[in-house]
Amino acid sequence: MDKIVSLAKRRGFVFQSSEIYGGLNGCWDYGPLGVELLNNVKQAWWRTMTLRDDIEGLDASILMHPRVWEASGHVANFTDPMVDCKSCKARYRVDVLMEELSVKKKKDVLRGLFPQEFAGQLQDEKVLEEFTQRISTDETIAQVIQTLVPCPNCGNKATFTEARQFNLMFKTFVGPVEDTNSVVYLRPETAQGIFVNFLNVLNASRQRPPFGIAQIGKAFRNEINTKNFLFRTREFEQMEMQYFVKPGDEDTWFEYWREARMKWFLDLGMKPEKLRWHKHEKLAHYAKAAFDIEFEFPFGWGEVEGIHSRTDFDLSRHEEYSGKSMKYFDDQTKEKYTPCVIETSIGASRSFMAFLTAAFDEEMAATGEGGEEMRTVLRFHPKLAPMKGAILPLVNREGMDEQARVIARDLQKYFRVFYDDSGAIGRRYRRQDEIGTPYCFTVDSQTLLDQTVTVRDRDSMRQERIAADQIKSYLFDRVAG
Ligand code: GAP
Repeated sequence: MDKIVSLAKRRGFVFQSSEIYGGLNGCWDYGPLGVELLNNVKQAWWRTMTLRDDIEGLDASILMHPRVWEASGHVANFTDPMVDCKSCKARYRVDVLMEELSVKKKKDVLRGLFPQEFAGQLQDEKVLEEFTQRISTDETIAQVIQTLVPCPNCGNKATFTEARQFNLMFKTFVGPVEDTNSVVYLRPETAQGIFVNFLNVLNASRQRPPFGIAQIGKAFRNEINTKNFLFRTREFEQMEMQYFVKPGDEDTWFEYWREARMKWFLDLGMKPEKLRWHKHEKLAHYAKAAFDIEFEFPFGWGEVEGIHSRTDFDLSRHEEYSGKSMKYFDDQTKEKYTPCVIETSIGASRSFMAFLTAAFDEEMAATGEGGEEMRTVLRFHPKLAPMKGAILPLVNREGMDEQARVIARDLQKYFRVFYDDSGAIGRRYRRQDEIGTPYCFTVDSQTLLDQTVTVRDRDSMRQERIAADQIKSYLFDRVAG
């Protein structure tokens, strides 16, 4: 993880927000290569989701009417249990305190509290999963942890207050007066912008269920625990799609979207063994089924995307709170109904981190001088790679540099490519490997004779010669679409 974070900073993928002031916890800035990678992740998602007949796009505002968040349940329920240390006043999320307990202790707690459920053998992984699931819902378990764990700050035992619920939404005010009538929230998810626009989009696009609405946008959560780089941040981007279906059809569509979403990761080069399904055993009261796609990060398995069967809860609640009908009238069958929703919800920044982590590799590779050295390589799928190619004159003379510049300028009309003429060619290849550029095109003395260049493949390091005027189609075939 440290290697990835340090590479991300050194090569301009991700910087700490407001770094010169000491940084702001849970916020990150995307540098020149980071913004390219992030845009490529978002574009890959957007194209997959919207280049079809049955999904429309949307870009709703971040600030919404405060009643939206009452209807959605976020005002009442979007909370984490927190405790304060009475001795030193430090504040903790209860699930963070849980991490202070050893696995053995957690096992004992589960057996003590739920003797029948956890009577048999318990695998360590199962213990951790159960704890994470139960911690936000089970008050007894929260209390046990408070008495077992000493305050991580002052070390005192049993000094925690009762757990209190802490709302994760950022509050702000519209207009000049800061009173309760002017409170608005920074949206904690993009989904509600889709629900409240359901009928607008349906009518404007003349869609009929089953159809979906897709959106990419910023979301904000006042997370108490913001560790693990981009995994859990306070400001992040979501890519969400709500698929509206006729009640009764939701199970079929749920399976369809589970398969489609897993395929998206695999098509972008993720290895199947790095991904797995996590089924939610304890469902939110409105949910019919929920699965997460988890990725194996360096710190362990973590959710990257949720696929949820949300029934007609959201539309019904907005109907109730707004007083406006959210029903669909089918003029062919003369049926009127509130559609059920299948949601696919993925973090752009969290999946950015998953793709960056999955791409990172180190291997021993031959140097030009007959020796070996460690090479760092980001094995991004060409569609995601920030730079699609590098144009390198072998030497900076004999017209090679001029010819290479002409090629680079022509390609830059279509792709992000990088021109580099400084240093030994081997070094320049390594610099491109380190940022994940899939192809290096080198202009050498033969180019001047027959207008061909060498193409070096990042992963195999093999080289072949192609005509210089074929570079564009070579790249289009591999990185576009
Ligand atoms: N509309 C449903 C929803 O928001 P969620 O499971 O809370 O569901 C969906 O979030 C996805 O958003 C997660 O799978 C994750 O990729 C991303 N996400 C959630 N909280 C995040 C955070 N604090 N930082 C980065 N990404 C986050």
